[in-house]
Amino acid sequence: MPPNHPVGKDLLSAANISLSDLNDVMRRSSIIKDLDGESSSPANARKIVASIFYQRSTRTKLGFETAALRLGHRTIDAYDPDRNRVGSANGDSFQDHIRTIAQLSDLIVFRHSDEEKCYEVARLSPVPVINGGNGSDEHPTQALIDLFCMLSMNGPVESQSLAISCDSRARYAYSLLLLLKHMPPKRLTFCVDPEMQFSPKTQLALDTLSGLGTHVSLVHDIEACLDHDVLNIQTQDLTSKVKSTLDGGDLASYEEKNPFVITAEKIQRANSNIIILNPLPRQGELDPSCDDLPNARYFEQVKLSVYVRMAVLERMLAGILWTGGNSQSVT
Ligand code: CP
Repeated sequence: MPPNHPVGKDLLSAANISLSDLNDVMRRSSIIKDLDGESSSPANARKIVASIFYQRSTRTKLGFETAALRLGHRTIDAYDPDRNRVGSANGDSFQDHIRTIAQLSDLIVFRHSDEEKCYEVARLSPVPVINGGNGSDEHPTQALIDLFCMLSMNGPVESQSLAISCDSRARYAYSLLLLLKHMPPKRLTFCVDPEMQFSPKTQLALDTLSGLGTHVSLVHDIEACLDHDVLNIQTQDLTSKVKSTLDGGDLASYEEKNPFVITAEKIQRANSNIIILNPLPRQGELDPSCDDLPNARYFEQVKLSVYVRMAVLERMLAGILWTGGNSQSVT
């Protein structure tokens, strides 16, 4: 029997977020930020937020748990030390595991390497589900956090230039593109390996932004991004073509010559005021020499992430539905 769940129950894709939803999340996050992490509408009924993570996580898992606790709710964790056995440790099928946790909780935060699994969980679960990262596809709350950082650190997104440096595994990037159509930046530059192919849906999102007036361009060296207002950077797998141009030196010069690594030396040479965001964990793309520069805002980003996750939980635990598109699976 197909489930009869209300449309907009779940946050699986940034496509679920309409402009009014986005404005509401940004407004709530801003109020919570001004209250230094307190909620302006403390929960009058304690709810249970369940974490089901099939991939490792520090920020998303602990971020949602912290957000729930700050709102006065409680958390349960379906973590199994042997991650292969989550859901089957006690003999349950995946489906029975999800159905069981959905009966024990009021909301589920779910991460899985399989892009389709969060959609299955949402169909199985009568309680709302948040996609905490599905393979290389999406990470909608990370994108909300990135947008909130741009707004609170730099003002209206429409007046900003944004550079994104990542490869096609960066699940936050597609989610961010979907949100940016509600607040198109004046300029968007992708710093990518010359051989990288955008997926059709990423290309469509870029075309949509171009149609909205954003100046979209591609570059292949992080130094070409340093005149932007914001750099959102994540690690990139180098193709053999790029690798071959770096071979022959010692490790230090390899890191220095890697066009997708940001260092303090590069920032200072360009005399750049760029704000650097990174979803973390970093994997070499963000040299620790940057950490003491005023440009480095990625740990402040972690702090702001709790306010955004509080805003998302506040809405969803109050039964407020998402009114954007209702994508039911990865296409
Ligand atoms: N940014 C992010 O998703 O971090 P985690 O993998 O630690 O959750």
